[in-house]
Amino acid sequence: MADDDSAGDRYRIDDFAFIGRIFEEYRRMFDLDPDRVAGIRVLDCPGGACSFIAETAARSGEAVAVDALYGPPPDDLATRCERDVERAVDALSGVEHLYEWGYYGDVGTLESHRRTAAERFLADYADSPSRYVRAALPDLPFPDDSFDLVLSAHLLFLYDDRLDHAFHRDALRELARVAAGELRVFPLVGFDAAEYGRLDDLRRTLEADGYATERRPVPFEFQRGATETLVVSR
Ligand SMILES: C[S@@+](CC[C@H](N)C(=O)[O-])C[C@H]1O[C@@H](n2cnc3c(N)ncnc32)[C@H](O)[C@@H]1O
Repeated sequence: MADDDSAGDRYRIDDFAFIGRIFEEYRRMFDLDPDRVAGIRVLDCPGGACSFIAETAARSGEAVAVDALYGPPPDDLATRCERDVERAVDALSGVEHLYEWGYYGDVGTLESHRRTAAERFLADYADSPSRYVRAALPDLPFPDDSFDLVLSAHLLFLYDDRLDHAFHRDALRELARVAAGELRVFPLVGFDAAEYGRLDDLRRTLEADGYATERRPVPFEFQRGATETLVVSR
């Protein structure tokens, strides 16, 4: 359940919210070129209730999403999703001033983005279940180099209050392993909008594994200061 923390004046949510974003939000968060996404193999992990995969598939991309909560029948996921969208929106109450509203404008518009994403996701999950794979980081059921582009949003770094450093390291290595091209991760901050404390350690680990890493500015800001994606490439 989401709860206000008036003493701490910050966004609070327990559990992992099963919510999602639309294609346009991903395009901005990851600074994607939509033309580049068409026709390549894309993985979104965790996919949550995002419509990104449905919209990418519609652009003739080969798109797969992984999430630890996939698997139940669409109606069951719809119930979870409805609950979590409400929780996520409620959790903004009283802390709106901690966010940048340039893209969404207001809470109502943000909520309608979440609901649009969920509707499109649920329809595609019902129609094309093979695009939605149940699995849990740090283990992915794919051979090395399975995807040209791997995207990971709003799990790593964001939930650093409950995911430890070993999980971050192992999950990043696993996401990079299945990426033949690039892995991009967003945001680089926790719910308190503070950057993940050991980001440089993780970059050094990936670089020692033979990857190049880069912090790339993106044309999106909601959590204040969260304006970069981590790009990991060979
Ligand atoms: C806030 S949502 C993010 C979804 C989407 N990427 C987005 O940006 O809207 C977090 C998701 O992470 C999923 N999740 C939590 N732990 C996971 C794990 N170990 N492996 C895969 N998915 C996980 C949850 O089920 C939830 O759908």
